[in-house]
Amino acid sequence: MVERVGFRRFSQANGSKNMTARHIIIDTDPGIDDAVAILLALASTELEVDAVVAVAGNMPLAVTEANARAICELGGRSNIAVYAGCGRPITRPPITAEHFHGETGLGALVLPAPTMALRAEHGVDATIDLMRAAPAKSVTWCALGPLTNVAMAVIKAPDIVERVGELVLMGGASRALGNTTPAAEFNIHADPHAAQVVFESGLPITMIPLDVTHQVRSTPERIARVAALGGPVAAAVARLLEPSGAQPSALHDPCVIAYLLAPKLFQGSRVNVAIECESALTLGMTVVDWRGVSGRPVNAKVLRTVDAEGVYALLEERLSGSSIPR
Ligand code: BDR
Ligand code: CA
Repeated sequence: MVERVGFRRFSQANGSKNMTARHIIIDTDPGIDDAVAILLALASTELEVDAVVAVAGNMPLAVTEANARAICELGGRSNIAVYAGCGRPITRPPITAEHFHGETGLGALVLPAPTMALRAEHGVDATIDLMRAAPAKSVTWCALGPLTNVAMAVIKAPDIVERVGELVLMGGASRALGNTTPAAEFNIHADPHAAQVVFESGLPITMIPLDVTHQVRSTPERIARVAALGGPVAAAVARLLEPSGAQPSALHDPCVIAYLLAPKLFQGSRVNVAIECESALTLGMTVVDWRGVSGRPVNAKVLRTVDAEGVYALLEERLSGSSIPR
């Protein structure tokens, strides 16, 4: 069990701007769990969301960017810069996941159409500009969808590799195998060539695979605890946590934000990760060299274990705080 007092240590009493906040860019394809991740970030004063950049993934880009804006508005943050990035993978035909995320991409949650404007600049260019303008290694890149925007940014501006503090991504699988094919997880399978560029880029990567996120399940009891917090954001999150199928849903993307807020909830190892881009059967498989038998260099920290109850305790704590509309 997590000690909640450990989280309180980070909290601010009045929701005012935290001058020592960690700056993040959220690259995302909302998406049910993306929405929860964004709301968790907005509810956490140790994080300063510099931009939300949409990518095609769970839904087409026109839907993911509109959902990103609607979620920022729900979180009371219509001032956040939201950009549209790439509308299709680098090479392969697009895939989407309406079967899981529903026709709107937000499952059972119905939100008003957003009124805040989409920023005009392309999301990849905006990301590059933000990385170049910020002090070196001061910005954390959070990737919650296919890695198309991330790959395009490092192709276009290789200099930003040295400027990124950390890239924390939800994607891939090891012993858990796949959720989209028997071998591959959705975000990597959706754009394996982008993933290959990213894992070979030299970026400081932390990868949160299905092996971790499948341990973090929104059981009825956990959803009830969130719903009981009251307020529009907690109510919306409770809707988002509702199961899409027979089993409690896995809380994939919020693990990225939880890792930034409470890294002690997670454990992992520094290893080599290679991406399968040739085989039709295993396209997008993440080949994780746990034993170092390949001779390939370490290119990522891959998380393996998580304190799931601690993640939900963190979510509850943030959703009951004063940094979100109540
Ligand atoms: C990932 O795929 C998407 O459907 C989710 O939003 C998450 O990013 C899980 O495999
Ligand atoms: Ca996602």
